[in-house]
Amino acid sequence: ARLTESGTAIRYVNGLRVTDDTALACVKEAAGTVRVEIEALLSLGLANTPMAGADIRVASGNFVTAQPLGVRDGVDLLHTGEVRKIAAAAIRRRLDQHDIVLLSPIGYSPTGEIFNLSLEDVATQAAVELAADKLIFLMNTEGVPDKGRTIHNALTVNEARQVLEKAGQGKAKKLPEDVAYSLPCAITACTGGVKRAHLISRHRDGALLSELFTREGVGTLVTPAPLETLRPATIDDVGGILGLIEPLEREGILVWRSRELLEMEIDRFLVLESDGVIAGCAALYPFPEEHAAELACLAVSTDFRGRGFGDLLLAEAEKKGKKAGFKSLFVLTTRSEHWFEERGFVDSSPAHLPKGKQALYNYMRKSKVLQKSL
Ligand SMILES: CC(C)(COP(=O)(O)OP(=O)(O)OC[C@H]1O[C@@H](n2cnc3c(N)ncnc32)[C@H](O)[C@@H]1OP(=O)(O)O)[C@@H](O)C(=O)NCCC(=O)NCCS
Repeated sequence: ARLTESGTAIRYVNGLRVTDDTALACVKEAAGTVRVEIEALLSLGLANTPMAGADIRVASGNFVTAQPLGVRDGVDLLHTGEVRKIAAAAIRRRLDQHDIVLLSPIGYSPTGEIFNLSLEDVATQAAVELAADKLIFLMNTEGVPDKGRTIHNALTVNEARQVLEKAGQGKAKKLPEDVAYSLPCAITACTGGVKRAHLISRHRDGALLSELFTREGVGTLVTPAPLETLRPATIDDVGGILGLIEPLEREGILVWRSRELLEMEIDRFLVLESDGVIAGCAALYPFPEEHAAELACLAVSTDFRGRGFGDLLLAEAEKKGKKAGFKSLFVLTTRSEHWFEERGFVDSSPAHLPKGKQALYNYMRKSKVLQKSL
């Protein structure tokens, strides 16, 4: 904006801005003004406001060492640079004193020169060097667009790479400009040790709070690995499993299990963990004489239904059963008969249950018996 005001044209070469002396003067002025304005906002401390008595110290300085981008395609990019080093230890010292460290897209070289950097580059390198838990990009758009009008809620690094690849090959819609800048940086950050990168809108009121404190969020979350893991349960999962199945037991959908029983039988359980929360579980009870196993306690938390988690748990239970040499799987259900039928289970009867199970069959519950050959 400052360049336009001063009547100077901005020159780009292959998407890279050429920073000549006039442009650098504008960059210095803009960075200085924005820094002062942010410092003023962070100094707010009026009574009866959320900032009352906040007393925040803002630290800014020469934390970023830069080097020139040099000559590209025969064009000297002059004062346009890239991050060479971040003074992570110095930043950490300020953070340890509870200061807020403000980095601007400006770096200095050991020769005393000033370079105009891309803010995404500075943010990404700083997050990696500090091994940050999160890197958040505030963009003009809502997030990474999906096929339709929606956005991707979460992407793993691999999925994010595919999105970029498809857009680059023209197999998908062109990505909005800020996504095209921020998504590769989110990938670099997540592969460099940052646990999460968020791409959210800077125009949506409360976007930051919604993204950080709601399960779904409002933008796109990029993570190094899938958020969901399917694994055998351990004793530490007992609390999580009880939290998941207790509401279903109260409704009479699942048979009641005590904590003690669950602790004893925990080896029979599989859990599906999503972002640190137990989202689903299933158990396999073997009946070796009949070469059969009961699939029991298959449950997905209401918050996570309809995402295929039930299918994942069933597939894993079937795989485990097959590996253990069972010929069939049976299930007793009062409400989910059709769900199992749609997945290859067929109607059976209590008389066809393994003997040990027949003795325990509760005729009052009138559960449907379904069976599937493995
Ligand atoms: C059955 C259950 C595990 C499915 O979990 P889920 O993760 O939502 O399942 P999926 O995402 O794999 O499948 C969802 C599909 O199943 C359908 N579905 C869910 N419950 C169903 C039911 N009781 N009967 C028929 N279909 C059902 C959904 O409508 C959805 O269909 P769609 O894909 O056509 O939209 C879950 O509903 C649950 O925990 N139920 C309560 C516990 C229970 O009854 N367990 C079985 C006895 S052990």
